[in-house]
Amino acid sequence: MERPEIITIDGPAGAGKSTLAKEIAKRFGYFYLDSGALYRAIGYACKLKGINLEDQEEVFNCAKSLNLKLENGQVLLNGKDVSSEIRTPEAGLLASKVAKHPKVRELIIKLLRKEAKGKRVVIDGRDAGTYIFPQAQLKIFLTASPQERARRRYKELISRGFKVSYEEVLKEIKERDKLDKKRKTAPLKIPKGALVIDTTGKGIEDVIKTLIPIIDP
Ligand code: DC
Repeated sequence: MERPEIITIDGPAGAGKSTLAKEIAKRFGYFYLDSGALYRAIGYACKLKGINLEDQEEVFNCAKSLNLKLENGQVLLNGKDVSSEIRTPEAGLLASKVAKHPKVRELIIKLLRKEAKGKRVVIDGRDAGTYIFPQAQLKIFLTASPQERARRRYKELISRGFKVSYEEVLKEIKERDKLDKKRKTAPLKIPKGALVIDTTGKGIEDVIKTLIPIIDP
């Protein structure tokens, strides 16, 4: 059996998608495409420019004017590394808001498909297996309880020096779940044929063990 060319990982916020994507990239030599980082960078840039996030045209024009690049797990916005600025809970919500606009999604999808050309890629997001790469050979859907997902995000944010409460993080996760599942364009759902993994109470090694025979047969 051949190794998959494209691996997609979808699921709600805090399910462990980026941890798994980075691990797959490192162990099996895949290029990591962090689609959420692009929406985060757009949300962050729009906020700095004082743009009305509900106005599709305004957000689209702002997004179009940006030079966005994914490099070695970093996000470059007009040449500046904003990886740390876009990891706040606020940037997550901003991302969710700009991501509901179809024109913005189209722009990002084109960029991601272009980046993926000629590479073995692992991509994480909300619509990676349903819309961006429906042809992907391996589609994974990661999930976990909202409480577990909030606990992980809380620990990560605290370790990075952010002053947040667990309740605040849980509220933000639930709000984003709602926005991501209910939106009209490319809502979060399980892709057809996806391998569904519930990571509640599981570590990254447990998940990788399930995947080794599929990725490296
Ligand atoms: O994966 P993340 O937490 O970095 O994503 C931030 C937000 O961006 C998420 O709440 C919804 C949006 N997003 C999306 O709509 N489609 C994607 N492929 C990735 C992220």
